[in-house]
This record gives sequence, C-alpha cells and structure tokens, in this order.
Amino acid sequence: MGLVSLICTLLVVVIIIIAVALSKTAHPRTTPLRHSELVYLVPQPRKFINRTPTIVVHRQNPRIWQKHVEDLSTLVKAYRERQGAIATSNCDLHYAPIGVSSCSFPLDRISDNCTVQNNFGYDTGNPCVALVFNAFAGWNPVPYNKSNLADIPPEIRHGYDFQQLIPITCNTSVASSGESNIFHIYYSPFPGFPFRYLPMRGMMGSTLPPLVMIQFIGPQSMADVEVSCYLWAKNLPRNVTNDPGSIRFSFFIV
Ligand SMILES: *[C@@H]1O[C@H](CO)[C@@H](O)[C@H](O)[C@H]1NC(C)=O
Ligand SMILES: *[C@@H]1O[C@H](CO)[C@@H](O)[C@H](O)[C@H]1NC(C)=O
Ligand SMILES: *[C@@H]1O[C@H](CO)[C@@H](O)[C@H](O)[C@H]1NC(C)=O
Ligand SMILES: *[C@@H]1O[C@H](CO)[C@@H](O)[C@H](O)[C@H]1NC(C)=O
Repeated sequence: MGLVSLICTLLVVVIIIIAVALSKTAHPRTTPLRHSELVYLVPQPRKFINRTPTIVVHRQNPRIWQKHVEDLSTLVKAYRERQGAIATSNCDLHYAPIGVSSCSFPLDRISDNCTVQNNFGYDTGNPCVALVFNAFAGWNPVPYNKSNLADIPPEIRHGYDFQQLIPITCNTSVASSGESNIFHIYYSPFPGFPFRYLPMRGMMGSTLPPLVMIQFIGPQSMADVEVSCYLWAKNLPRNVTNDPGSIRFSFFIV
C-alpha cells in the first residue's frame, strides 16, 4: 500500500511537471526532463542559444510571469491535494508523534512571499523557485558526519544539522559586473531536504518528496543573474564534471 501510494504520488508530481513543460509553446524550447537528475527545478527555465537555461522575470508583463506563477501554484496544489488524499500527521523536523507512519510535508511553513497571493515574487522582481527531490533517481544521500569537521566543506560547515537534512545552498553572480551574492536568498520550509521526508527512508511511500522554495531578493534593478545551487552530501563529490548535485540556471530580470 505504502509503495503504491509513493508511486502514485511521484507520478502525479512528474505528470504535472511534464504537463507544465508540454503546455509551453515550442519556441523557445523548454529544457527536457532527465530522470537522472536529482532534483527538478520549477518553473522550468527556457533554453536559449548560448545561454544558461533562463527564467525570464518580466516585472511589468504579467503575461510572461503568470506562466511561472502557474507552474509553481500547480506544484503546490498537487502537493496539497495529494496530501489530503493520504492519511498524514503533522511532524516536526526532529519529532514525529508515536505510531505515526506518515508525515505531511509542512507546506504552511513555506514563506508567505512564495505563495500565489504574492505571485511568488515575480511581479516585484524577487522570484521564488522550487527544487523538488526526484525520488526516481534512486539516489540515497549519505550525510556528513559532524564529528569529522575537517571532512565537511566550508560552505556548509556551520548552521546545518546533518542528521536532519541534506543542505541546499545557492549563490548568485551578476553576469555583466561579476558582482556576486548581491541577492539575499531565503529557503523555506527548510534550508535543504529533511531526511524525514525522503521517500526511501523509514516511512516508505507515505510522504511526498521534499521540496525547497527558494526566494532571491535582489536590488530591484534590471539584472542578468547566474545562479548555482548545490546539494551537499558525502556521496556527492563536488569536483567531478557534470556534478549531479549542482543546479545551474539564470534569471533575466527586467
Ligand atoms: C518578503 O519579500 C520582501 C521583499 O519583497 C522582503 O523584504 C522580506 O524580507 C521577505 N520576507 C521573507 C519572510 O522572506
Ligand atoms: C562519526 O564519526 C565519529 C568519529 O570518527 C564516529 O565515532 C561515529 O560513529 C561517526 N558517526 C556516523 C554516523 O558515522
Ligand atoms: C558559486 O560558488 C561556487 C564555488 O564557490 C563557484 O564555483 C560558482 O561559480 C559560484 N556560482 C555563481 C553563479 O556565482
Ligand atoms: C577531488 O576528487 C578526487 C577524486 O576524484 C579526490 O581525491 C579529491 O580529494 C577531491 N578534491 C576535493 C577538494 O574535494
């Protein structure tokens, strides 16, 4: 039963993401989904020639940003509906009530800025994106051991509880000036993927794959911004070509 509901859940999410991708016009092309990817990025960036896949944030043009808002609200709605259909309990990052077999993903702890009411920040040039864990990839994260501080990369050495979650960090640089990290980045509900919500651990099949909503709050001016996001786990070496734990895209904010 648990496994069946996991598969249904994943199918719902993937079908929705694929439907969203297909509903876009053929020009410019959308990035194809590859099942080897460890995470899905929503909204799907578009592919342009000689550019990192790009999310266009056109503050003055609702016809352009409305599509991104639709992608994200479709995703959150799918989570809500799916969650309503399986018996779930509210859990904490550190604590699940005794006897509980499934924890509902805490959608209500996603920042109010990253909601449909606030257009996921697209009308104000402070866009939100979602990173969704891809359970199909079959990847089993191995956490860092906080006792071996020297093994932990400096980027995540402080402020993370490796027993509880796989950290996700993002950094930005402005393409023309090379200025880096002028965007403030907010992660919700958690700054990574909690192990508690990973489908393959423990409570198999009863939870939805974790997602992280990430908001980029910037200088409110036109900007072409390169973004790199990273997943951090012991079995994701950073210095390999085609690092599977890195997600790269850009924002073109006008
Ligand atoms: C929401 O966005 C505004 C900018 O539009 C920012 O000042 C504020 O800190 C954000 N709030 C949160 C909780 O991220
Ligand atoms: C973490 O490292 C310490 C010291 O090397 C070791 O005793 C402990 O068993 C390790 N914990 C895990 C979960 O591997
Ligand atoms: C983010 O940081 C990494 C490592 O510090 C660097 O290689 C990468 O170029 C940076 N990305 C951006 C978009 O600044
Ligand atoms: C880079 O990868 C090699 C193995 O491919 C490893 O021996 C080395 O320690 C890695 N370097 C860093 C800085 O992670």
